[in-house]
Amino acid sequence: MDAVARIEQVLSAAVARVEASGAPPKLAAAIRYAVFPGGARIRPRLCLAVAGACGEDGPAVADAAAAAIELLHCASLVHDDLPCFDDAPLRRGKPSVHRAFGERVAVLTGDALIVLAFQMLAAGGAWSPHRFAELLLIISRGVGMPTGIVAGQAWECEPHVVLADYQRQKTGALFAAATCAGAAAAGADPGAWRTFGERIGEAYQVADDVRDVAADPVQLGKPTGRDAALGRPNAVRELGLAGAVRRLDLLVGEAVDSIPVCRGGDALRAQIRAEVDALLPRDLARRAA
Ligand code: IPE
Ligand code: IPE
Ligand code: MG
Ligand code: MG
Repeated sequence: MDAVARIEQVLSAAVARVEASGAPPKLAAAIRYAVFPGGARIRPRLCLAVAGACGEDGPAVADAAAAAIELLHCASLVHDDLPCFDDAPLRRGKPSVHRAFGERVAVLTGDALIVLAFQMLAAGGAWSPHRFAELLLIISRGVGMPTGIVAGQAWECEPHVVLADYQRQKTGALFAAATCAGAAAAGADPGAWRTFGERIGEAYQVADDVRDVAADPVQLGKPTGRDAALGRPNAVRELGLAGAVRRLDLLVGEAVDSIPVCRGGDALRAQIRAEVDALLPRDLARRAA
């Protein structure tokens, strides 16, 4: 089974767990709505790609880690779109969760997805308590304080923000969790994979900033121009369009160079190059340059 099919299957099983009888129907529906249909699923694909490159021996652990990471990402999007954060009406080409289900259900959807992520992880990691403990620490670090998603989003409440810190925490941290978790799930050294995840995640946020300024919102499935409208730190605002594209290239180069020696290294490098090309279409990058 390919990586995407594996991810969708595990996510389906996870979401089905919250639809059991006795569950409040609106919240259960909102959870499904927040997870399906998915977006790029780049974080879980990265996690499985690293697990594969490290020679995974227990796919169930990698699958659980990948799905947990995607559920946490979906939670972060639901909360990020709320009126008290980015007040975004659209996500993945359809009304954001609070627009479709109301604010109270949206807050609870994010909360429930966070809990569900750790339940998935616990269930999948049951056969290897050592790896489960390691994954729990890696993944919680990517989303919590002091330097995970929650911390990154909190910089929006501070008077002074360093762009790189903001981007590393709100986005890079979960990518780092994805690469480290992929290694840990395969029994490899997670620390060796941190730089790769951090750089690729920061690059991903720089590309998102460029798209916020220059992409077509219909193609993107979410509004553009939000960062300027909300006064958010944005790579284009700080570096200019060409400067942001140069920063993206630099980060991707550092990411690829940091991939540890492993038997799946060449395939992983090729996958990353393809991901980056899809991330920032060439015509957009050319226009910027
Ligand atoms: C959006 O992430 C939020 C950022 C950190 C840029 P994605 O671009 O991965 O969103 P989906 O999952 O594909 O919708
Ligand atoms: C992503 O930042 C922050 C999260 C951790 C969800 P953005 O606010 O730039 O993401 P989009 O543009 O809404 O997807
Ligand atoms: Mg946003
Ligand atoms: Mg954005």
